Amino acid sequence: MGFSTKAIHAAIEPDPTYGSIMTPIHLTSTYVQEELGKNKGYEYARVSNPTRTVLERQIAALEGGSEGLAFASGMAAISTLFSLLNTGEHVVASHNVYGGVYRLAQGVLSNFGLEFSFVDTTDLDNIRKALKPNTRMVYIETPTNPTMEVTDLTGVGNICKDKKLLSVVDNTFATPYLQNPLEYGIDMVVHSATKYLNGHSDMLGGLIVLNNKETADRLRFLQKSIGGIMSPFEAWMCLRGIKTLAVRMDRHNRNAIDIAEFLAQQGKVKKVNFPGLVSHPQHRLAKKQMRGFGGMISFDLGTLDRAKSFLKRVKLCALAESLGGVETLISHPATMTHSFISAEQRRRIGIGDGLVRLSVGIEDVEDIRDDLKQALSGV
Ligand SMILES: Cc1ncc(COP(=O)(O)O)c(C=O)c1O
Repeated sequence: MGFSTKAIHAAIEPDPTYGSIMTPIHLTSTYVQEELGKNKGYEYARVSNPTRTVLERQIAALEGGSEGLAFASGMAAISTLFSLLNTGEHVVASHNVYGGVYRLAQGVLSNFGLEFSFVDTTDLDNIRKALKPNTRMVYIETPTNPTMEVTDLTGVGNICKDKKLLSVVDNTFATPYLQNPLEYGIDMVVHSATKYLNGHSDMLGGLIVLNNKETADRLRFLQKSIGGIMSPFEAWMCLRGIKTLAVRMDRHNRNAIDIAEFLAQQGKVKKVNFPGLVSHPQHRLAKKQMRGFGGMISFDLGTLDRAKSFLKRVKLCALAESLGGVETLISHPATMTHSFISAEQRRRIGIGDGLVRLSVGIEDVEDIRDDLKQALSGV
């Protein structure tokens, strides 16, 4: 079965009660039991819900895994993943991860005795050098948010197998349409379903996919214990979004290539970060492990004043956090998504005050280009 067919049919059966083609939204907190110990597989909705089950099976099918879990947000999924670890254990993570992961690591998990080293994972030697006797997990994003760095999935998978570490990839930017980390030997994939999977900027959700039943059972235990589950309505919204993921991603890909090439020719733009440009340092690796380059671009306007004036002038591109929706969104990582990180650390990882992040939507590309052109003309 091809990806587009799976996105519409995998794990989805007409409802046995009335034959509705769409998965019903099971709005219930509890389930009647026929007698003590006898039920239809569901007891209490924090533990499981039939709408959520369909989404969990579907994302597992799309990522090529056997186990899926759905959470209230990407951060709820990521927090639950880190809850697999014990006090005193150590994580090596990409230095360029989503700012919320830094916030979680440094502002919350460090209080529970978890240790993090953030390194440039585009060079696998940096991962090897950061390993300690107490390292238990390598956590990467590829491409990263917001500088679009690409890390070698096979390389990370091999290091982790060799050292018996858990490997995790945040696959939010690529989506399962463009990249399947499990195929490269990665243990677990995590998604902010809020982004491309839903695709319409109208829900929050998080997903985890893996192949190991024992780890999945532990994650399910953590999921019901911590309680950050995806609601049935959100699960239904996400299922609905995924049906069009392939067609949306094709358009995001095409539009982003066009916009990245346009930006690269503008004198006022100092640098464009997009793995689809041949000038991108990991362009060849991206071509090898991805089936397209996605819809995310970041570019440097040099100074905060220039970034501010540009963001004030855009009309079609909406100044907003988040990404992956049908509409083009534009943001300023240093003061928005990555504001938790110190200015010095931001500079070190390439998030200067002039950096602007663009989530290229699926509008007519000429309109996006025209809006960027008129905004740049006033900078
Ligand atoms: C790459 C990435 N991972 C995880 C998250 C967190 O997801 P959520 O906002 O759904 O909690 C985000 C949010 O922007 C993200 O960009």
